[in-house]
Amino acid sequence: MSHFQHIARVPGDPILGLMDAYRADRNPAKLDLGVGVYKDAHGLTPIPQAVKLAELTLQQSEATKSYIGGHGDALFGRLLSQLVLGADNPLLEDRAAATQTPGGTGALRLSAEFIAHCLPGRGIWLSDPTWPIHESIFAAAGLRVGHYPYVGADNQLNVEAMLAALSHVPKGDVVLLHACCHNPTGFDLTADDWMRVLAVVKARELLPLIDFAYQGFGDGLEQDAFAVRLFAAELPELLITSSCSKNFGLYRERTGALIVCAETPVKLQDVRSQLAFLARNLWSTPPAHGAAVVANILADSELHTLWMDELDSMRQRIVSLRAGLVEALQAHGLAERFAHINQQRGMFSYTGLSAQQVQRLRDEFSVYMVGSGRANMAGLDANRLDQLANAIARVCLD
Ligand code: LMR
Repeated sequence: MSHFQHIARVPGDPILGLMDAYRADRNPAKLDLGVGVYKDAHGLTPIPQAVKLAELTLQQSEATKSYIGGHGDALFGRLLSQLVLGADNPLLEDRAAATQTPGGTGALRLSAEFIAHCLPGRGIWLSDPTWPIHESIFAAAGLRVGHYPYVGADNQLNVEAMLAALSHVPKGDVVLLHACCHNPTGFDLTADDWMRVLAVVKARELLPLIDFAYQGFGDGLEQDAFAVRLFAAELPELLITSSCSKNFGLYRERTGALIVCAETPVKLQDVRSQLAFLARNLWSTPPAHGAAVVANILADSELHTLWMDELDSMRQRIVSLRAGLVEALQAHGLAERFAHINQQRGMFSYTGLSAQQVQRLRDEFSVYMVGSGRANMAGLDANRLDQLANAIARVCLD
C-alpha cells in the first residue's frame, strides 16, 4: 500500500516559482522582475553595509545561542515598535508591544491564527487584488475571506468603490490594509483617503490589520508610517504586521513582528499571552539572528544613520528606474499608456499587461514577471530599460 498514492501535485507558488523558472532560463539577457527583492546596478541583492557592520559586532559579542523566548528579542521588539509607531508614541508605554515572528509572513500567519482562535466568527477582508499569499494564509487558518475593490480592470485605484464595499462589511470583521507600497499594484491611498477609510472602520467597528512590509520604500520611513500612526492614535485596537525583509535587506533571515495595540495594559497582556501560545504551536520561538542585527542597528546612532541613508538610496533608485522606464517607453509611443508607473510607489508596479502579454514577455524575451502583470521595479537595471521597453512594445503593439 502506498500512503502517498492519492496525493495530488499542486501548482508552484505564483511568486517564488518564478525564481526557479528564471534560474533555469539559459538566455543571458534574461530579466527577473518577479519576486519582490531589491537589486543593485549589478543585479545583486546587496547586504546593506549597516547590516554587515552589525553582524561583525554580533559575531564578537554574541554569547549564547539559547532560545530567545516566545515574543522574541525584547530590544528588537521595542525598537521596531518605535520605528513603526514613532519613537515618542505614548502607546509604547504599556498599550502596544511586538511579538517577533519569522518575517512579515509569519506575522500574518500569527494574526490569522489569533483571529481564528480568539475572535471566532470574524471574517477578514482583503483588497482586490492583493498579495496572493494573503488569500492562502487566511484561508489556511479557516477564516471567511472577503474582498473589497481596490484597483479595477482599468488599472486605476478606485477609492470610492473601496469605501462603498467596506461600509457593507459585517460589523466587527477584520480588514487588511496595506500601509504603503500596495502589493501587487503599487497604488497607495492619499492622506485624505486614509481619513475616509478610518471613518468607515470606526462606523463599522472593524478591526484593522495593517500590513507594513515596505516601510521606507514608498515616500520615506516616517511618511510611510502615516496610516499606521493615524489608526493607532484614533482607534483603541489595532494589529500591525511589520517586516524587516526589504528595508533591512534581511529577506532570508525571516525577521518581522506582529505589533498589537490594545485598549488597556491588561488587555495587551491578555492578547500577548494568546500570541505566545499560538506562536509556540507554529514555530515555538522565532529565529534570533535577523532580530539581533536590527536591534543592533536601531540602537546605535551611527549604524542607524548609515542604514537610513542606504534605505533612502534604494528608494530613490527605484523612483528613478520608474521614470527611466516610462521615458524608454516614450520611444514606442507608450509613455502615456504606462504613465501610472510613475505614480505608483514601492517595489511593485501593476503594469496593466495581460496574462498573455506576460507569458509572451517570458517566452519570447526571457522577461519574468507575475502573471497578474505585476513587475518588480526594484529588479530593474538602468542599462536595460531600453531592452525592457522594446520587449513591452513588442507584446503591446505586435
Ligand atoms: C513578493 O510579493 O514578491 C514578496 O513579498 C516576496 C514574497 O514572499 O512573495
